[in-house]
Amino acid sequence: MSRNIPPSPIAGSSRITAPDMGWIFAPLVHEHEYVIDQIDGELPSGLIGTLYRIGPGKWEVGRTLLHHLFDGDGMVSQFTFDGRSARFRNRYVRTSQFRDGMVSGRPRHPGVGTALPGGFWANFARGGGPANVANTGVALHADRLLALWEGGPPHRLDPDTLETLGVHDFGGRLRGMLKAFSAHPKWDPATGEMFNFGQDFTPLPSLNCWKVDRRGRLRRLAKVRMMNMPWNHDVALTREHMVFVLDPYMFDLRTMLSGAPVLDAIRHRPEKGTRFVLVPRNGGPARIVEHDALVHVHVANAFEDGADTVVDLVLFDDFSALRRDLSEFRTRFTDLPSSRLMRYRITAGGRVIETPLSELAGEFPQYDWRRSTRPHRYTYLAGRTGPSGAYDSVLKVDNDTGNTQVQELGSHTYVGEPIFVPRTPDAAEDDGWLLSVVYLAAEHRSQLTVLDARDLAPIAALHLPHHLPFGFHGTFTRRVADPAAPIPHPGRLPIR
Ligand SMILES: [Fe+2]
Repeated sequence: MSRNIPPSPIAGSSRITAPDMGWIFAPLVHEHEYVIDQIDGELPSGLIGTLYRIGPGKWEVGRTLLHHLFDGDGMVSQFTFDGRSARFRNRYVRTSQFRDGMVSGRPRHPGVGTALPGGFWANFARGGGPANVANTGVALHADRLLALWEGGPPHRLDPDTLETLGVHDFGGRLRGMLKAFSAHPKWDPATGEMFNFGQDFTPLPSLNCWKVDRRGRLRRLAKVRMMNMPWNHDVALTREHMVFVLDPYMFDLRTMLSGAPVLDAIRHRPEKGTRFVLVPRNGGPARIVEHDALVHVHVANAFEDGADTVVDLVLFDDFSALRRDLSEFRTRFTDLPSSRLMRYRITAGGRVIETPLSELAGEFPQYDWRRSTRPHRYTYLAGRTGPSGAYDSVLKVDNDTGNTQVQELGSHTYVGEPIFVPRTPDAAEDDGWLLSVVYLAAEHRSQLTVLDARDLAPIAALHLPHHLPFGFHGTFTRRVADPAAPIPHPGRLPIR
């Protein structure tokens, strides 16, 4: 069963990406609901629950093309496993921009990488800044499924139907200028609490640090001044701290006033250095430790080791090239600068000890979330190990030995973030599966690949009869989404 979304100016017309990339950035113009009936290998009977993935599903509003990977309309994919079969469902988040695209040919707001004509006035003063496209992260906490975007509040979705229920402001606590709830919350498995942050630019650049208790009640832990570093994407969590790694990404005011997109105005200023900021979970002043300038987007786990704090992240070689390639994603996605998993130990004395964990290029670091806040041995990444430059493999890094295993998934494939699912709730670390959405360029379709996390051996491939555009992040829950949930109809969705 499927349903069309608005007509696309480019679907089925011309190739829009570089040849090796197939049509990975072609829009998905259907919302589907079906049982996956083509499975290679054997679906593990113990794999029970629901995988949610999120990313842009189309980079257009009406007939207007958007010009940055981050600007596309958020779309959630749902893979449901009941122990016998697997089902697939996808839905666009009914954001303001998505609804505009249903009825209009042009966006009303700029994107983070797509400017409206009319300069600064049109984009920021009258335009109100970039549209919340709900395309970056997805979290299931306190029985709420949230589609996340780092510049604004979450959109709440029905975890069964994926119907958009509306903007979620945590009972009015995300309001006024305090609306941002970023796309990379972290959970403490011991307490059930979720920690996140939001950037706040008034009156001065700062980070609002949020704690959401296990019942879903949000409160602000701290407000941390960012000095002159106003952009940050991710945060890590230990038992004692929220750990920020603030690279010197600074807005160039002159570029912003020219009406350029927000992301075009960010400059990496290495002379300013990187700051590790440790925000106590129980309040109290943040601790700041200076370091040479880094370039990163995502962190992995963090933990306390005696009096030291340890945080892992994926370090990129070059910010300018990364920024350029993300804005020219349709043709340059395979040109991304190299990246590798690194470990940073912040000592009690204020030193920072840097250790490479792997030399292989990868991104989207993942680990067994049951190890969050505590030492973890294994990190899993989408790898870029082949000659094409594409994400064509899954990497598994043994943080203790320095060994990296590689599972290549074929040439001209695009491997998404691998999510670890433990075999049982109390299985050992690494005893479980890795779930990754893989795009097959030659066939212009996607599949969900299931690997044994212990040796990266392929166990099953669940073939979809269509493609999924390259997405960002996901989450897994043991809750099985209701297969009988009716398909939402756009006419029932709140319009505001
Ligand atoms: Fe991210």
